[in-house]
Parts: sequence; structure tokens; C-alpha cells
Amino acid sequence: MLSSQPIKFRKPVLTDGMSVYQLIQSCPPLDTNSSYCNFLQCGHFSSTSVAAERDGELVGFISGYIVPERPDTLFIWQVAVDKQARGLGLASKMLTQLLNRDICNNIHFLETTITEDNLPSWNLFKRLAKHIDAELQSAVWLDKQIHFNDQHDSESLVRLGPFNLEVTRDL
Ligand SMILES: CC(C)(COP(=O)(O)OP(=O)(O)OC[C@H]1O[C@@H](n2cnc3c(N)ncnc32)[C@H](O)[C@@H]1OP(=O)(O)O)[C@@H](O)C(=O)NCCC(=O)NCCS
Repeated sequence: MLSSQPIKFRKPVLTDGMSVYQLIQSCPPLDTNSSYCNFLQCGHFSSTSVAAERDGELVGFISGYIVPERPDTLFIWQVAVDKQARGLGLASKMLTQLLNRDICNNIHFLETTITEDNLPSWNLFKRLAKHIDAELQSAVWLDKQIHFNDQHDSESLVRLGPFNLEVTRDL
């Protein structure tokens, strides 16, 4: 049952790790990671990740990091929204919450990867591009044959930007 309780957004903490692991497992086509990886996301990458919680339950999660060689670029690793909470704008809100943090003050590009058939994901990032008035470019980055040994669909690198968050925050 969908609860009417408000959704709270926050940085994840280490104790969210197993809930993140379970949420990702329940959100195909996302690749599951090891629980250890999810703990690292909730620990080392907490400042650039988002937990969305309702009634104490994790209903949404974004993992992200600032690309080490390019400090103006935020990479979104995964976006997951619990089936019960989809279609309510939650993924878009989590992205906006993240971009509004001080750590993103010098971010002018956002990148993610999407498989060709993941329409919800394409729509999510197209919508964001419109919202922050950014150009969106994409090209295959991890190729099914060359990189995945035919065991995973190709992942396109999607790049939004350049954008100026100080301006777009007021939109
Ligand atoms: C993709 C996902 C995160 C979207 O979460 P959500 O909270 O339902 O998305 P939002 O409500 O914020 O919608 C954002 C945009 O995506 C579109 N969208 C969402 N679900 C959609 C669907 N099933 N089909 C087509 N478009 C969809 C919305 O219409 C909206 O665009 P619009 O405002 O232009 O109409 C969610 O469906 C999910 O967790 N899917 C499984 C995991 C996954 O594929 N993650 C994406 C990898 S980055």
C-alpha cells in the first residue's frame, strides 16, 4: 500500500548499505553490485549519493561520484526507485536534491550510462536536461561485443552540459 507519509531525502549512511543492496536487487534492469560496493557508496560516496526514505523504508537511491580526473563532472552511477513509488517524480526530485548540494557548486556536466531500451531512464535524463537547460549528447561507451563479451547490452554514455547550477537553481 502506498503510504501518504512524506518522503525524506538525505545523504546515505553506512547502515543503509543492505537496504540499498535489496532495493537494487528489486529494480531490474539494474546490475546488482556486491553488498560491499553498496556500503562503499553509502560511506565514501555519501556526499554525492541520495537516500529517499518513507516511513523508515528506503524507497529510492542514487549513487554518484565526482569524476576524479574531471572535478566539474558528476557521474550518476545508478538510480533506483521502489516499484510502489514510481511515476511520482521521485527520481527527478532525488537528482535535483543532489544537484542542489554545496558539493555540486562547481559541477557543470552530468554523466550517466543508459542501455538503448531503458526508456524510463532516457526520459528521466531528458527531463533533467530540459530542467537545467543543458544540451544532452550520447554515444556508445561500453560496447556489447568489445567490452561486455556479448554478455550485457551496450551502455551509452549520456552527457548533459555545460550548465550553470547557480542559475538553474532559481528556475
Ligand atoms: C527509471 C526510474 C528510476 C524512474 O523513477 P521515477 O521516480 O518513476 O521517475 P520520475 O517519476 O521522476 O519520472 C522522470 C521522467 O521519466 C519518465 N518515466 C518514468 N517512468 C517511465 C516509464 N515506465 N516509461 C516511460 N517514461 C517514464 C517520466 O514520464 C518523467 O518524464 P516526463 O516528466 O517528461 O514525463 C525507475 O523507473 C526505476 O527505478 N527503474 C528501474 C531501475 C532503472 O532502470 N534505473 C535507471 C538507471 S539510471
